[in-house]
Amino acid sequence: MLAGRRIVLGITGGVAAYKAAYIARRLTEQGASVRVVMTPTATRFIGEATFAALTGFDPIVNLFGGDDPSPHTTLASWADVIVVAPATAATLAKLASGESSNALVATVLASTCPVVVAPAMHTEMWEHDATQENLTTLASRGYEIVRPESGELAGGDVGIGRLADPDTIIETITRVVASGPLAGVHVIVTAGGTREAIDPVRFIGNRSSGKMGNAIARVAAAQGASVTLVTAADDPDISGVVAVRVESADEMAEAVWSRLDTCDVAVMAAAVADFKPEKADTTKIKRTSGLPSIQLVPTPDVLQGVHESPNRPFLVGFAAETGTLEDAAAKAKRKGVDLLVANDVTSDGSGFGSDTNEVTFFYSDGTSKGLPLLDKDDVAKALWEEVHILRGAG
Ligand code: CTP
Repeated sequence: MLAGRRIVLGITGGVAAYKAAYIARRLTEQGASVRVVMTPTATRFIGEATFAALTGFDPIVNLFGGDDPSPHTTLASWADVIVVAPATAATLAKLASGESSNALVATVLASTCPVVVAPAMHTEMWEHDATQENLTTLASRGYEIVRPESGELAGGDVGIGRLADPDTIIETITRVVASGPLAGVHVIVTAGGTREAIDPVRFIGNRSSGKMGNAIARVAAAQGASVTLVTAADDPDISGVVAVRVESADEMAEAVWSRLDTCDVAVMAAAVADFKPEKADTTKIKRTSGLPSIQLVPTPDVLQGVHESPNRPFLVGFAAETGTLEDAAAKAKRKGVDLLVANDVTSDGSGFGSDTNEVTFFYSDGTSKGLPLLDKDDVAKALWEEVHILRGAG
């Protein structure tokens, strides 16, 4: 659920700071991208090197002196969620009053994403009116508070104030990030046009840009799905989307078929070549060798393989037609899909590379529904709404 999600982990100066190392580790293990921002006091409890090793990135401690002139705004706009664990009474006060005197508070203040705060402090500090009022303020602003537990505290005291179980904090992050109508749904989307090699220089390709597939992946991730994008186009680097780059139909088939055991919905938006050269030359075919004749053989039908899999997910196919959609209903049946999204790629605003698309949904019972010309993101939203209804979740 966290794969591809972008998480800023804020660490403040309390003895529980060592537990943030476990949180960073578990988040990265689950495929999240983690960037750490520490208060100067936090570095007295745990070293920056620990987080650099765990996340692959140096933590930000100072607003000045690094390569980025504005690290707090960079991090803030990058993040899907910010989690502050442990959060001291001092940091809660700064967050509540908006006193952005360090990189951590500045990052939170510069962000618009959800914020999870896990306080940890001595019982008296936790119960103090100042702390409780600050927490009420933060909660009223929509911050998610993971309340501390009762237990042994620094110095051997016992009482409420111990940082919540790190796994509880991780569960909260997961819930906050992966919420929406597709939460818990594993999705595979194919995108782009495959390239079938003729020689190391040339290939047989098509005009697909991958934009429709990217939009479908982006909307699914925004609605909480775990998304794998198997793309023959460039990696679009979408938050929450794990991109697998492939080139040929064979590679796309392998990438998709090997992931079906954890797939609930497959959306095959790629323009897959139907034929490939029987044999790709290993060296460039020279002009002087004369006009080559290329023997073509069929490629695997990726969609067909998904349909026939014992792990068959809910299956959405695409049909790029030219001139008329009259074959699309028959194609929906022939391909065995639950939903076929057909478009006429020669009509205005629907061609390859365009930011808009005019599609018609064809259902397995032979009925259809036409949509107006829409942005590809809106087509993607309509598609997921349709999938939601057809899967019986709506
Ligand atoms: N598709 C696929 N693997 C292929 C060819 C197509 O997975 N080798 C998928 C496409 O991603 C799309 C659907 O099948 O979701 C329909 O593709 P399309 O090219 O329209 O259909 P074809 O079966 O190739 O039929 P035709 O070329 O006759 O239109």
